[in-house]
Amino acid sequence: MKKRVEIADVLLEPKLQESVTVMGWVKAFRSNRFIALNDGSTQNNLQVVVDFDNFDESLLKRIQFHSCLSVTGTVVESQGKEQAVEIMAESIEVLGDVDPEAYPVKPARQTLEFLRQKAHFRMRTNTFAAVFRIRHALAFAIHKYFNENRFYYLHTPIITGSDAEGAGEMFHVTTFEPNEAPLTEEGAVDYKQDFFGGPTNLTVSGQLQAEAGALSLGKVYTFGPTFRAENSNTSRHLAEFWMIEPEIAFGDLEDDMDLAEDFVKYLIGYAMEHCMEDLEFLDKRIQNLEKNMKKEERRPMGLLETLRFVLDNDFERISYTEAVDLLRNSKPYKKKRFEFPVEWGLDLQAEHERWLVEKKFQKPVVVYDYPKGIKAFYMRLNDDDKTVAAMDVLFPGIGEVIGGSQREERYDVLLERIKEFEIPEEELWWYLELRQFGGAPHAGFGLGFERMIQFVTGMKNIRDVIAFPRTRGNADF
Ligand code: 4AD
Ligand code: MG
Repeated sequence: MKKRVEIADVLLEPKLQESVTVMGWVKAFRSNRFIALNDGSTQNNLQVVVDFDNFDESLLKRIQFHSCLSVTGTVVESQGKEQAVEIMAESIEVLGDVDPEAYPVKPARQTLEFLRQKAHFRMRTNTFAAVFRIRHALAFAIHKYFNENRFYYLHTPIITGSDAEGAGEMFHVTTFEPNEAPLTEEGAVDYKQDFFGGPTNLTVSGQLQAEAGALSLGKVYTFGPTFRAENSNTSRHLAEFWMIEPEIAFGDLEDDMDLAEDFVKYLIGYAMEHCMEDLEFLDKRIQNLEKNMKKEERRPMGLLETLRFVLDNDFERISYTEAVDLLRNSKPYKKKRFEFPVEWGLDLQAEHERWLVEKKFQKPVVVYDYPKGIKAFYMRLNDDDKTVAAMDVLFPGIGEVIGGSQREERYDVLLERIKEFEIPEEELWWYLELRQFGGAPHAGFGLGFERMIQFVTGMKNIRDVIAFPRTRGNADF
């Protein structure tokens, strides 16, 4: 294989008159003369100029949309205004042909729904390439942020015996064949004979183990795949998603909210600093999409404007009780426009969250101190005995991006809560021991990575910000 130069390097530091080899996919081929070539290293294409007298007709025919080429040529100043430099092709080798009749992806705009079914090709499109470059940048920024703030990256297990959220939405892990599982005398599946000697599942959260980390190393975070057999077929739920979960010892709910706000602002700032070309492209894409929409259907602000706005403003912090009061006094509530009831003790639904964020405050809102009945067992009970020290961060257009809490560090209270939730105590023996031996107040949260990417890229559907989405009824690819 010839030694290739990445297109980003050719464009950023062009060495004029030098001969280079570039490889990439054809984005366009105009007038049998100009190839726009892209190798993913940058959003920008490299223009390759072909003097058709020097090449066989049969070769030129193979230069099709998304065919893959290796081009050797001289870097020269461009005659055109669109780009500073281009390459005069000396030799072209086709690495991968495309039969345009058979190839499902076309140069004209195709719907995101259609491209979702061609997930193996969709990253070649400008929109998805931009999304996945930004996804990468955010993943990197997450590690950078925590590293700079002295958090340790803890790899928590993917297979676990505990249901951290107590919601029972788990995928079981077993080596038993469904119809041949050994049974106990009582007729239940005898998991003692299974691979791990007990029932296990794919993790719904690394939090419980992260707590053990924080109560040893002070500040830790997890960043890994998370699995939920939720039945919600929405634009913000996946069965397999990635979650970032920092956990801090010696911190309370307020520290937790401060950390959450600082962290997500850092991520947005990082994207704006390092992914501007891709963000501008996505911003324009949304403007184009919304051109023919009615004003009510359009987003209140453009993508970049929204990102800047979130960066520049403090998040609103209100208690759950205040949120319920505001909602019950809202226009849509009084006009019975909400589908779901608003009542103290019931969970806030997406429509309520969106009203708070998009109509009432028009900026991110942190809701804290939720009723204990609707939140997980591990959240710290407040002195009112009715609410827990929980917090959700709600974002415009998306709703909940973060869920977190101060943890219940008092052994007796925790034990009582575990009983209330009817969670088998023996599953959590080690978690309880963390409170019996050298415990400390501590807090943490989980950021849904894909929801964060949705916010930064403006993509409406969560299936379009993860390469190969897993949802109910779909594990293709
Ligand atoms: O609010 P959740 O369920 O909180 C936890 O799991 C805690 N253990 C986190 C912690 O305190 N360490 O989930 C956290 C976030 C949500 O706010 C949401 O952004 C995301 O994870 N999330 C999902 N994202 C995509 N698909 C799903 N099915 C999701 N479920 C939760
Ligand atoms: Mg939540």
